[in-house]
Amino acid sequence: MDNPGLDARSSGAGHGARPEGTVLEYGPGEPGAVSGVRRRRSPALPVGSRCRRGARVSRIAVFGAGHVGLVTGACFADLGHEVAVRDVLPDRIEALRAGEVPIFEPGLDELLAKNRERLTFTTDVREAIDGADFVYIAVGTPPTYSGDADLSAVWTVIDELPLLDRRVVVALKSTVPVGTGEKVRRRLDARGLRHVGYASNPEFTAEGTAVRDFLHPDRIVIGTFDAADADAVEELHRGIEGPVVRCDVASAEMIKLAANAALMTRISFINEIANVCEATGADVVKVAEGVGLDRRLGPHFLRAGIGYGGSCFPKDASALKQLAANSGYHFQLLNAVIEVNELQKRRVLGKLQRHLGTLRGKRVALLGLAFKPNTDDMREAPSVVLAGRLLAEGAEVTAWDPVVDGRRLLHGVELAASAREALRGADAAVLVTEWPELAELDWAAAAKEMRTALLIDGRNMLDPDALRAAGFVYEGIGRAAPRNGGLD
Ligand code: UGA
Repeated sequence: MDNPGLDARSSGAGHGARPEGTVLEYGPGEPGAVSGVRRRRSPALPVGSRCRRGARVSRIAVFGAGHVGLVTGACFADLGHEVAVRDVLPDRIEALRAGEVPIFEPGLDELLAKNRERLTFTTDVREAIDGADFVYIAVGTPPTYSGDADLSAVWTVIDELPLLDRRVVVALKSTVPVGTGEKVRRRLDARGLRHVGYASNPEFTAEGTAVRDFLHPDRIVIGTFDAADADAVEELHRGIEGPVVRCDVASAEMIKLAANAALMTRISFINEIANVCEATGADVVKVAEGVGLDRRLGPHFLRAGIGYGGSCFPKDASALKQLAANSGYHFQLLNAVIEVNELQKRRVLGKLQRHLGTLRGKRVALLGLAFKPNTDDMREAPSVVLAGRLLAEGAEVTAWDPVVDGRRLLHGVELAASAREALRGADAAVLVTEWPELAELDWAAAAKEMRTALLIDGRNMLDPDALRAAGFVYEGIGRAAPRNGGLD
């Protein structure tokens, strides 16, 4: 097998007067040259007319109608490709056929509706595969009991593939341990599918901005065993502007895990700085601003808070930790990142106790339940840990979220229809998710309706001075707190 390794050339499809498809060769050190990166410069297509402009229209079967699968399918359809999305859940497929979108993702409804004629939804493998040039696998890879990634859904897709009589490229979008591609390759070969290509094409989309992240990516990573497969996957993305990193399969798999680990490390780092700020009187918001202006560091992912959650970071951290351990390496830094995050979620309890004493019988309002705004996802959300700990301490817990219905996950928590209702009669409020609605709230009026106007701003979203002027004892994360506890 031809393993292309990192491709040191840079190329681009035309900008301005340059005809499309012209290859620009950058010398090392020239502007635009990035080692191992092809810089794609396709002109941006006007909204609503992502026609293929002479480029090849491909047929793509996407396995998995979850977050990643639907965004991938909708975006490829928007680029002009014919897409069949296949899922094992008949209800989900029925809903999609009826034009209902089963997940909350800004812009996705519109994109699916706009590209309806290029999208089909099915539970049938053969129907999805029929005439396909690419099979995208976007199924879940949740953690097993041991913390490793559960790849059973990936293997099911591989084993269900019919004996294709032409060259189709199987591309893996799901996040998987390094080495998975090698195993998939061996399984395809063993099944008599030696002629089928393989690519690792990991996703870097964040919930809430997934459509934008797909169509305007920081990079497109393509790991293959064969340069022709990389060419095919790169061509599939024509119309999307962004650097393309072509590499071997193992490196592509590691890029995904390492990128998420780096982002989590930044979060745990700034959270620890926040904790030291609290002990020393510094303000982490200002500190992050000052640190982030260093061009070598940049401003992103330096927002201190009550820890990261979601369907990706905690799962991927665990998978990378186990991957390292299974390979005989103790990944100390990642272990610390995970532990810092767990402790960070619980620090709010200490803050509440410092102000209120025992929490037994106290009423605490949680504002926001989703792991971040613009999503209805509560997986690994700090709100779940917080609610559990508060109930265990004997507190009464009320909660509000504009999107999430937390009934299934939050037993014993009273759900309120509005933030004001959740706050009414409460002894304390914790801002858990930075929903924009909370910036608009009439905090002065809310303060009057609370038993004790105490607010722990778990995301440093609000202006401390404005909240104090509104009558609150305000405490953020890593910001100077009133020395006397503020309530007397
Ligand atoms: C994350 C990555 O950002 C995506 O690039 C990646 O593709 C995705 O995981 C994935 O692996 O599929 P996501 O989990 O949707 O995306 O959400 P983020 O916006 O990254 O936020 C994750 C958590 O970190 C949230 O709980 C957020 O509140 C927290 N966070 C983020 C902070 O506490 N501080 C920050 O400065 C930034």
